[in-house]
Amino acid sequence: MEKEPRKLVFRATPWIFLLVLPLLYIDILWGNNIQFEQRFHYTSSSPPISSTRKAIIREPVEEKHESLDSLLSRLVKGEDQEKLKATGFACNSEVYSIHCVSNRPVRVDTRTMTVTIASNQSVRETVIRPYARQEDEVLLKRVTPVKILQGNTTLPVCQYNHEFPAVIFSSSGFVGNVFHEINEILIPLFITTRLFKSRVAFILEDYNPSFLRKYGKALSGLTSYEIINPSANQSVHCFPGAVVGLKFHGHLALNSSDIPGGLSMREFRKFLRESMNLKYSHVSQIKTPTVMLLSRRSTRRILNEDELVAMMEELGFRVLVVARAKVISNLNLFASLINSCSVFVGAHGAGLTNELFLPDGAVMVQVDLIGLEWAAATYYGNPARAMGVHYLRYKIEPEESSLLKVFGRRDHTYITDPRALPVQAGKEVYLNGQNARINITRFRETMVEAMSLVRYSPL
Ligand SMILES: *[C@@H]1O[C@H](CO)[C@@H](O)[C@H](O)[C@H]1NC(C)=O
Ligand SMILES: *[C@@H]1O[C@H](CO)[C@@H](O)[C@H](O)[C@H]1NC(C)=O
Ligand SMILES: *[C@@H]1O[C@H](CO)[C@@H](O)[C@H](O)[C@H]1NC(C)=O
Ligand SMILES: *[C@@H]1O[C@H](CO)[C@@H](O)[C@H](O)[C@H]1NC(C)=O
Ligand SMILES: *[C@@H]1O[C@H](CO)[C@@H](O)[C@H](O)[C@H]1NC(C)=O
Repeated sequence: MEKEPRKLVFRATPWIFLLVLPLLYIDILWGNNIQFEQRFHYTSSSPPISSTRKAIIREPVEEKHESLDSLLSRLVKGEDQEKLKATGFACNSEVYSIHCVSNRPVRVDTRTMTVTIASNQSVRETVIRPYARQEDEVLLKRVTPVKILQGNTTLPVCQYNHEFPAVIFSSSGFVGNVFHEINEILIPLFITTRLFKSRVAFILEDYNPSFLRKYGKALSGLTSYEIINPSANQSVHCFPGAVVGLKFHGHLALNSSDIPGGLSMREFRKFLRESMNLKYSHVSQIKTPTVMLLSRRSTRRILNEDELVAMMEELGFRVLVVARAKVISNLNLFASLINSCSVFVGAHGAGLTNELFLPDGAVMVQVDLIGLEWAAATYYGNPARAMGVHYLRYKIEPEESSLLKVFGRRDHTYITDPRALPVQAGKEVYLNGQNARINITRFRETMVEAMSLVRYSPL
């Protein structure tokens, strides 16, 4: 019996919320997967927790008074560090990101987005578009370029003198999609600016008010100053140093041994909890085991959600079914709701980024559809593990996928070897053309495991 998933149901409790995920699922990830897979190895070897802990212990020592010069020099590595010392300016360029650092005074003219650094050398010009997705040319075109002039050029007159360095970045890009907002802006911003302990000014290019509405709380945990919108504040601002662009460590990744060093996913999650006032840090603080089932409404739907819910309730879970319908970008509300859950269940999609708000020891269950294995593991599975969240993968059988009907038999090439399809066609088939009817008997085993993980999760 084919039934539309219900609008929104809260079962077994008096909780009645009307929730919609703040998402426009633009699943542009797919286009790059194949290249990514070949070139990119970051998550499966995320740093073990023990090394992370060591890194944290360093903090109080640095608490003293690390000079601005020393802080800025931590943002570049190797030869670039020497270069920064010698010339006052260096850029660190990687496949996905580029960021430039000046440890000398800079003047930022927000009318032209020109950064001027005085020196007695002939003028050198560097132009970068400060966004953590340098490999995506189409997207990069939407990011306003910043021109950096270093040399014996005429300096604009300072209209505002700031005590602390500036960090210039953009809220263009894939804003509107929670995965990309967090992956390409929020985490890189945390990596790049946490070390300044809020003594830093943000210049947000391509200023997007909806981005700020959503992440305002998090941003104000990183800077104690009002964010400068260059298109509204057309003036010359002077700073003792600057960073243009943000450092990126990989998808939903924080690598504590990469620069600036010492920051892991655990610190990021702690930061989110603190800045967004999330209540639970560990799953054992949640009295009744609670599942959030993320209900997708157009693509990658779970067709028998009701049966799933009944089974989970029978196991003793309280179940929240959250449907994303229209856009409510109330991330604060949604984050606190996820944070009050012990288990988060959903099919592959940007909404799973919200696993970031789960308490430690909680469980992420991803329904892994045909052809999406790599993306499922790379974007949400491996990051979950690096967060201190248990990750359970429910790999569907061809019988559970709507694609069985499309291709007729379970040993069809496009079922057994999704890579046989070209990328664009694959995207249409696996990402946009697939729903699942879950085998309740089999899924029950996964939920039993989830229950035992959250019941006996040690602090
Ligand atoms: C530039 O200034 C530095 C010191 O500030 C000096 O050592 C160097 O000789 C100067 N170079 C030129 C080309 O004037
Ligand atoms: C800037 O420096 C270069 C090289 O040292 C020199 O040739 C040029 O005259 C200088 N220009 C100005 C405006 O000082
Ligand atoms: C521009 O920024 C400065 C300092 O950040 C602030 O004092 C000033 O009020 C701003 N001006 C406008 C027009 O927003
Ligand atoms: C973390 O960064 C270090 C230093 O750049 C690098 O050697 C290591 O491979 C990175 N680890 C991961 C998992 O990316
Ligand atoms: C569901 O899974 C169970 C356990 O793996 C299996 O025995 C059963 O045949 C499956 N049911 C269907 C309808 O495929």
